[in-house]
Amino acid sequence: MILKNKNKPSLGLSRNDPCWCGSGKKYKKCHMDSDTEKGGGIASKLKPPRGVIIKNGKEIEGIKKSCQLTKEILDKVVPMAVEGITTEELNSFVHDYTIKRGATPAPLNYHGFPKSVCISINEVICHGIPGNRTLKNGDILNIDVTSILDGYYGDASRMVTVGEVSPVARKLINVTEECLYMAIDEVKPYRDMGIIGTVIELHAKKNGFSVVRDYGGHGVGVKFHEEPHVHHYDVGNRGIPMLPGMVFTIEPMLNEGKKETLLLDDDWTAVTKDGSLSAQWEHTLLVTDRGCEILTA
Ligand code: MF3
Ligand code: CO
Ligand code: CO
Repeated sequence: MILKNKNKPSLGLSRNDPCWCGSGKKYKKCHMDSDTEKGGGIASKLKPPRGVIIKNGKEIEGIKKSCQLTKEILDKVVPMAVEGITTEELNSFVHDYTIKRGATPAPLNYHGFPKSVCISINEVICHGIPGNRTLKNGDILNIDVTSILDGYYGDASRMVTVGEVSPVARKLINVTEECLYMAIDEVKPYRDMGIIGTVIELHAKKNGFSVVRDYGGHGVGVKFHEEPHVHHYDVGNRGIPMLPGMVFTIEPMLNEGKKETLLLDDDWTAVTKDGSLSAQWEHTLLVTDRGCEILTA
């Protein structure tokens, strides 16, 4: 976008709109001047960084449908995760239901992943492979569903508790979900993406938990994993503005203990190095002219 008239705001905001930065002030009283060519502020940063795909209207429509299917699958599979069921049974359900709806489960055969959903129990951080393990009272698990519908991807995950879980497990799950929503609140056009990790790490640390660094969120929509990588820990400013039409996930993983990870021999399952519990929540988001939409809500 080229800002032609130095006196005219060109970010799709009118003078009296609330400023994009979240200050609560009117745009004209806040960032309007510095956003103009004369201000030299935002104009230089408006190019999407290399590899970042700004989605067009047709793509957004397709991604929205895929994200809604992903949400629907999660709504159905989450209540099935009770004591005594195997993770393979949950996988079969996700697989069959996805196919029945004319879609494809994205994990299956993705870089060799052998199943249709990721299920990560207790100390497993992410990419757990469903199998003959039976869910037990006190388990906490993440179910991560990604669907491909008409070629478009929707990616989301939630935590589930089995029976009675420990108070620290409950707290870890709640704080992780709070981190996700606090980060989503910061998703506004033209802001630097670094704010996401800043708010997540702050809230996690306040509560005595650590943030996993070895895995992050990602652009998504026309491919499973696109640019940019989304950091969940504080890296300061990244020089990457969130632009309208960007679609990406935020999917913080918090550990009860230390942040370090280990990869099991299957080359997929990521676990906490210290064996402590881990939790994760994920949504796919669309940056809009005014803020963002949670496409998997
Ligand atoms: N759904 C995961 C994510 O949120 C990725 C899983 S990759 C797989 O990025 F191959 F393990 F399915
Ligand atoms: Co994801
Ligand atoms: Co996912």
